[in-house]
Amino acid sequence: EISGFAFDLDGVITDTAKFHAMAWQQVAEQVGTKWTSQLADNLKGIDRMTSLEMILKAGGHETEYSDTEKEQLADEKNHNYVNLIKTLTPDDILPGMLDFIQSLHQNHYKLALASVSRNAPVILERLGLTDSFEGIVDPASLKLGKPDPEIYIRAAEVMHLDPDKVIGVEDAAAGVTSINKAGETSLGIGDAKILHEANLIFANTKEVTLQAIKEKMTAN
Ligand code: G6P
Ligand code: MG
Repeated sequence: EISGFAFDLDGVITDTAKFHAMAWQQVAEQVGTKWTSQLADNLKGIDRMTSLEMILKAGGHETEYSDTEKEQLADEKNHNYVNLIKTLTPDDILPGMLDFIQSLHQNHYKLALASVSRNAPVILERLGLTDSFEGIVDPASLKLGKPDPEIYIRAAEVMHLDPDKVIGVEDAAAGVTSINKAGETSLGIGDAKILHEANLIFANTKEVTLQAIKEKMTAN
């Protein structure tokens, strides 16, 4: 019996995934790594420093930058990203997500946030969703990011639920892997080819309703 939902933020609740991609593309161009849609997909859900390492590696530049220079590049990316998210308002919640979150509350499900983004609290505030979650996993407290299961295990803990009672909601392949390894049910939103490991797949946020989830779960 499912009793709680653990949500990723970027690309699930709001379309900040595109802002992360825009800011990383600038860094990629600066270091001379070719920006591709595949690289963009691979970076989804990945924490800040690991994302930078992946961008450097994709272009064969991993040995060209000192730790200090890497910190600078990551700071620059975040500076650009923070600028891009300044204008977020509750209107930027993805289609259907507010209704879905409200229906979860009405049906007494618990909700947790499982984002590795250090910017998650300010984004939730701008979307007017801070009070919608029982708990937020603090990314600063994590040893490993997605695809490691740690963040989704912690999300179940903040809801005081066993993992098998939790559905994790993700737009990223790394996130789906994290959910599956945590022993939860994975719900992927997006391209079925990229999210093929997900237990339940929805093409977009509008289609995600409690009814549709129940139907897919009995069909499985
Ligand atoms: C999320 C996003 C990633 C981002 C990461 C860290 O997982 O999907 O694209 O790199 O958070 O975000 P931050 O805001 O801390 O740089
Ligand atoms: Mg995401």
